[in-house]
Amino acid sequence: MGPSEILEHIGETLEEQENFVLLWEEAGNAMPSDVPDFLQDKQWQESMRYAGFDEAHVAEAAAVAETIRRDPFLVRLAWQAYWRSYCSDSHALKKWPTLEPLLGDLSGLFYFLVGLGGVPLVRAHHRRLGIPEDITHATCQQIRVESVAFYAGQYGKFGVDYPQLEWLSHYTHEPYFRLGRLEFWLEPNKVCKARAFRHLATGRTVALALDKTPFSSDGSIFAEEKQPQWLSHYEETDDAFIGNVITPYGIGTRWQVALPKTEWKLALEPDDLCLTTHIPNGGGLTPTACAESIRMAQEFFPKYFPEAHPKGLVSVSWLFNNQLHQVFPPDSNVVQFQRQFYTVPQSSGPWNGLWFIFLRRGAPDFESWPRKTTPQRLILDFLSKGHHWRESSMFLLWEDMKHYGTSHYLSQWPYAELGGLTCSVPAASAAGDLKR
Ligand SMILES: CC(C)(COP(=O)(O)OP(=O)(O)OC[C@H]1O[C@@H](n2cnc3c(N)ncnc32)[C@H](O)[C@@H]1OP(=O)(O)O)[C@@H](O)C(=O)NCCC(=O)NCCS
Repeated sequence: MGPSEILEHIGETLEEQENFVLLWEEAGNAMPSDVPDFLQDKQWQESMRYAGFDEAHVAEAAAVAETIRRDPFLVRLAWQAYWRSYCSDSHALKKWPTLEPLLGDLSGLFYFLVGLGGVPLVRAHHRRLGIPEDITHATCQQIRVESVAFYAGQYGKFGVDYPQLEWLSHYTHEPYFRLGRLEFWLEPNKVCKARAFRHLATGRTVALALDKTPFSSDGSIFAEEKQPQWLSHYEETDDAFIGNVITPYGIGTRWQVALPKTEWKLALEPDDLCLTTHIPNGGGLTPTACAESIRMAQEFFPKYFPEAHPKGLVSVSWLFNNQLHQVFPPDSNVVQFQRQFYTVPQSSGPWNGLWFIFLRRGAPDFESWPRKTTPQRLILDFLSKGHHWRESSMFLLWEDMKHYGTSHYLSQWPYAELGGLTCSVPAASAAGDLKR
């Protein structure tokens, strides 16, 4: 049964089929002769309970599962989505059918069932790694706290959007866990594009920009800027690490320092093994909950991955946008959270990250975007004054995780260790403040 026949059967057309038809034959060859387990009531209902759903949507899901099981075209389509998401290297589903013509208001349940199909895979993956059941249980909440919540926010009904399956697939085979309020993924640092150096005597830490980073006048990196104001320079000589300082407030500066190798060591750079930190949807990002999460990560990874020595936490998010203190009160959870990290500019378009708060993409429409919650109102008020929004990245070195809660990097800035170095003094034209 080919992809075109399925589209015709469900009454949908796709302008672009490239991604939809990808690995069609391979998936077909791997398909069981009976209806796959993830579509059987016993399995998806057990997964639904495990992921923390109540009984509210069981009847609708059962009706859709029954509709799929009775229709070989739908079984084949569901299998293709499942196999691509969880069993292939091409996880991302782009431009796929929505199932709306066929299933109407229940269309979101089609990919919801595929999403639940990942739960037994996460459980098996964790069992192989010897991960305790409570961590597996917490990790499996993702489909509920993130995918279903976003779907409800966007479409006002229950379900999962197929692009979300890509993220859900990571939990089935990556070292990626929810530990308390936060999630941590043991992987090479792909998000914090700077080098961090640690002073051997005092442990103080400074970030230097990578070579040729294109900075804007305010020390951020604006992806759409045609002509950046200046390019950073970085080089390593026999004696020193030389580069442009990024302040812990996430501002790239023209201030160039030479850090003697006798006094400083390289502590973090791109591709170093780290814990990429994710902040799942759900509010309650309290200082206590986050501190507990970070304490759990410090215990968990050395215990279950003793061979791995992550250099620290890294992340990229709107939560590390250094404009946050202009938008939210100083005692808000989000500002307190940001202050615990060394923030680093990240190439960002003008509206990156707004989706997580508004479930809308692109430039804000001040008339129609929701103003239901405090963050929505505060952010729209800020943007209506002509500001752009952005994402930034951050790091917190492993050695400094024990200082979580003390705004460790900010409280010590600027460091005397840097002042005594032979370097060009911060130029009057240096971008941004060196200290707020
Ligand atoms: C980031 C986040 C965890 C911060 O939570 P928090 O500030 O501790 O939230 P609280 O529970 O204290 O709630 C504060 C306000 O934020 C609102 N809020 C919480 N999550 C929200 C969300 N996803 N979108 C919009 N508003 C949200 C609450 O409704 C509350 O508004 P109110 O004052 O009008 O009642 C929260 O915004 C969230 O869940 N965001 C989605 C996930 C996210 O953005 N992750 C980063 C992805 S890169």
